Amino acid sequence: MSTAIKKQTLRQQMRSARRALSPHQQRQNARLLCRTVTSQLWFQQAKSIALYLPNDGEIDPSLLIQYCWASGKKVYLPKLHPTAKHRLIFVAYTAKSKMRLNCYRIPEPVIQGLKPIPAWALSLVMFPLVAFDQNGGRLGMGGGYYDRTFSFKHLSKGMSSTKLIGLAHDLQKTENLPTESWDIPLQGIATDKHYYPC
Ligand SMILES: Nc1ncnc2c1ncn2[C@@H]1O[C@H](COP(=O)(O)OP(=O)(O)OP(=O)(O)O)[C@@H](O)[C@H]1O
Ligand SMILES: [Mg+2]
Repeated sequence: MSTAIKKQTLRQQMRSARRALSPHQQRQNARLLCRTVTSQLWFQQAKSIALYLPNDGEIDPSLLIQYCWASGKKVYLPKLHPTAKHRLIFVAYTAKSKMRLNCYRIPEPVIQGLKPIPAWALSLVMFPLVAFDQNGGRLGMGGGYYDRTFSFKHLSKGMSSTKLIGLAHDLQKTENLPTESWDIPLQGIATDKHYYPC
């Protein structure tokens, strides 16, 4: 089987599996994820943190967002780049942010006179994924958005201080994930059951 077909098959399987979780299971996993993440030193030390609003059965980090607000950490959300295709920018997010749906029907904060933060200036980015393995391999939705936005990590050879962590339901774990040269490696994956450092 070619890598492209393997990736497509795995994407379909994992997306159906996470969408099949009941609202009760989703809420429980969200609570357990919050516990996994808040117990980590890298989270406790981070001051500017990018998170996301869940879509397509992705694990819900809303409790983490509220935890960050309550503890004085700055929260940012991704927004489609206004000009560059398949790239993201990060915009400050507060309880008062004005939101608008993007072309994928995902809510994004409206830029209200605030400059987006450069991706490299974030201390921690937690983003969704479709499948992961324990080596830091990540399969996303297929747009290459996160891969392109964080491609500077390939060049910085360990000099970048931006930590990239994938968030997922534990059932999205797989072995032998087909990864490609452009895939951005994760420093860890946090789920409802474990933190997997890579
Ligand atoms: N740094 C990059 N520069 C140019 N093209 C890229 C880069 N990263 C990924 N791509 C392109 O994006 C496409 C999708 O990549 P991939 O299948 O890895 O998406 P993904 O990781 O599932 O998506 P996402 O990053 O949005 O979660 C591929 O065709 C790949 O060539
Ligand atoms: Mg990729």
